[in-house]
Amino acid sequence: MSGKAIYWNHNTAFHAELVNDAKRRGGRVLDIGCGEGLLLERLAPHVALAVGIDPDNDAVGRARKRLGAGSNTELIAGDFMAMSVPPPEERYQTITCVATLHHMELRPALLHMRRFLAPGGRLLVVGLSANKTATDYIVAGLHMMPIKLMDKLQGGMQEIGVKLAEPRESLDEIKRTASEVLPGAKAKRRFYYRYTLTWVNI
Ligand SMILES: C[S@@+](CC[C@H](N)C(=O)[O-])C[C@H]1O[C@@H](n2cnc3c(N)ncnc32)[C@H](O)[C@@H]1O
Repeated sequence: MSGKAIYWNHNTAFHAELVNDAKRRGGRVLDIGCGEGLLLERLAPHVALAVGIDPDNDAVGRARKRLGAGSNTELIAGDFMAMSVPPPEERYQTITCVATLHHMELRPALLHMRRFLAPGGRLLVVGLSANKTATDYIVAGLHMMPIKLMDKLQGGMQEIGVKLAEPRESLDEIKRTASEVLPGAKAKRRFYYRYTLTWVNI
């Protein structure tokens, strides 16, 4: 896929929601697991600075081409878990993390994310969870046909060549860990086999 391509898939389906949320606060945004940068490109016009981090050099190279030089974006080729906690004045008003949390250890990753948020900042995770309970399987089964239909209506999903991983934790397990690490976090099951998790640093 070429540098500036716009595409649709089960992750970009959430981009408008994420951008609308982030632009209410503006300021600095960190996209963890930015892949090839489409979300950063969409966030950048609405915020002061959009920073992306991803350990996949190829994806970051493609993000660099997409975003060009001199924009209000920064790219870091690296592991978020090794990223130093910024000083208070450089913390983020918004952190986005799309289809990436399950690539990391859940509890340490959430703990690390909370250290990067400015007071009043919001963490916005769009995640994948494993099917473990009867409810998980039933909901996934019921969603299958409507999701196939949406895929067709959107012209199909495009392969974008980013790293994939199988989720390990179920939504119940994610909710339990999130409530311990991020008191008041809200996690809910969403369409496209995804959940969203939001937390405000009050
Ligand atoms: C399924 S892709 C999602 C990419 C992008 N967010 C999207 O929606 O297209 C998961 C991304 O997480 C990145 N990733 C994996 N481990 C990571 C880590 N420790 N820190 C930051 N990103 C990571 C992968 O390199 C990959 O680009």
